[in-house]
Amino acid sequence: MKKMIIANWKMNPSSIKEANKLFDSLLTIKNNDSKIEVVVAPPFVYLPFISLGSEKTDIKCASQDVFWENPSVGGGAYTGEISPKMLKDLYVDYAIIGHSERRKYIGETDEMINRKVKAALNEGLKVILCVGEPLEVRKKGKKAAMDFVKNQLQKDLKDIKKLSVVGRRSLVIAYEPIWAIGTGVPAHSNDALEMIKYIKQLLAKSYNLKARVLYGGSVNSKNIIDFVKHNEIDGALVGGASINSKEFKKIVEKINKLNN
Ligand code: 13P
Repeated sequence: MKKMIIANWKMNPSSIKEANKLFDSLLTIKNNDSKIEVVVAPPFVYLPFISLGSEKTDIKCASQDVFWENPSVGGGAYTGEISPKMLKDLYVDYAIIGHSERRKYIGETDEMINRKVKAALNEGLKVILCVGEPLEVRKKGKKAAMDFVKNQLQKDLKDIKKLSVVGRRSLVIAYEPIWAIGTGVPAHSNDALEMIKYIKQLLAKSYNLKARVLYGGSVNSKNIIDFVKHNEIDGALVGGASINSKEFKKIVEKINKLNN
């Protein structure tokens, strides 16, 4: 099965010039027969340039968020928000939803995230849903971490069964333990594997869904193989290492070699 690698640029870089340069440098990625799905998630202001530029390449594009409403006649009164329809119109393939930084700094709740997931899927925008436990929960042990993630998934995917079509390609889960994000200390790959297997079981049992599940948190070219060598780990969501084009390309190269 194709591995997936997502570059979450977060709030980087600081100019359109640098964003274009970073994206252009990714175009030289050697993706042997497109064995890996490479996705770039730039900030909204750069999104049109990147998404329209990626149209004729193997690279796909994701937004870092999306709102739960679409403009309608006399509607659209949601200052500052971006709708699923607008993103589809720009050939954006995926929307990252529920990233822990948005939960923390913007105060996104599971209820808001659930509305966003449903709105995106309804519009045919694929979803990368982020879940993961904070350090104080992980300290209580594996069972507590699993319960935390289960609770997030139940709330974030509430009523998803009612959606007409949720194919296995439409929903991707990214397991990102909060304590591993931006710390340089990734989860142990066996712990990530255990959680990812658990998430897959839950999705199969509760939603009859076979979604891809990725790992995220301090992934770099040195540790990527520890994660993706496991069949059950379908790829990685990369933050810091994705804004260094050499490092990101090395990550893709390593996965390519593994696939050969
Ligand atoms: P880092 O790779 O910088 O730890 O960030 C992970 C992340 O939050 C990706 O969404």
